[in-house]
Amino acid sequence: MVVETIADMKRLRLKLTEPVGFVPTMGYLHEGHLALVRQARAENPSVVVSIFVNPTQFGQEEDFTKYPRDPQRDLALLQKERVDIVFMPSVDKMYPPKFKNWVEVGKVAERLEGASRPGHFRGVATVVARLFDIIQPDRAYFGQKDAQQLLVIKKMVVDLNLSVEIVAVPTVREPDGLAMSSRNTYLNPEERKAALVLYQALSLAQKLWSQGEKDAERLRQEMTDLIQKQPLAEIDYISIADAETLDELDTVRPPALVSLAVKIGKTRLIDNVVVG
Ligand code: PAF
Repeated sequence: MVVETIADMKRLRLKLTEPVGFVPTMGYLHEGHLALVRQARAENPSVVVSIFVNPTQFGQEEDFTKYPRDPQRDLALLQKERVDIVFMPSVDKMYPPKFKNWVEVGKVAERLEGASRPGHFRGVATVVARLFDIIQPDRAYFGQKDAQQLLVIKKMVVDLNLSVEIVAVPTVREPDGLAMSSRNTYLNPEERKAALVLYQALSLAQKLWSQGEKDAERLRQEMTDLIQKQPLAEIDYISIADAETLDELDTVRPPALVSLAVKIGKTRLIDNVVVG
């Protein structure tokens, strides 16, 4: 069932059998989203998915209007997964004209993606807090692919004392290793091949670490050297950080989050692995 208003969503939520699993998305669904939905389906008698391209998490230079959308295809996919409710609010329902309150998460939101995309996590945390308030889920499912988003949401849930369990779902990859992302559709065939360099760099770091290399700067350098050999790739950041605090490490102590953002042509991609 598709629901478009907050009032209808709240009314129907009361009729759902608990626990309720919730998967927030911006649509244009791929196997990564479907893995979240399937896990939610397996663990809860009721599943709600939201499709909302959230304008406040896009920077001025970013691709909000160009962000890919295909609601009819999304709805058909979600019907196959036996989702109970698809919540598809409009922008003016989620952000009425007098909307003034924002969720600022602090330090964990300021580095990496937060540093490259100022305001991004304020938009994410605010819309997720609003969705949690409307849907009142018992569990909410987020992909490990957006590792920092996951940390930001977990921190928000602790700080605001929200009654929802956050479930992390492993990254789903294409057969060659590229992490699934709606933004992969922007890549032309040559860029698609070049995009593999993100996973190659992460795999290299993982391999060197398991062979005994614990010097984080040396690992960052090896990853940088590999990516710089790919002419279509431009590094935004390469990080080896504590997986909880995102503080950059000198010596790799597990669990460490190895993450990177790289532009392939005009498309900015992110990926990560946790070592240890
Ligand atoms: O990961 C996403 O697709 C978005 O950031 C989210 C969590 C749906 C919030 O808009």
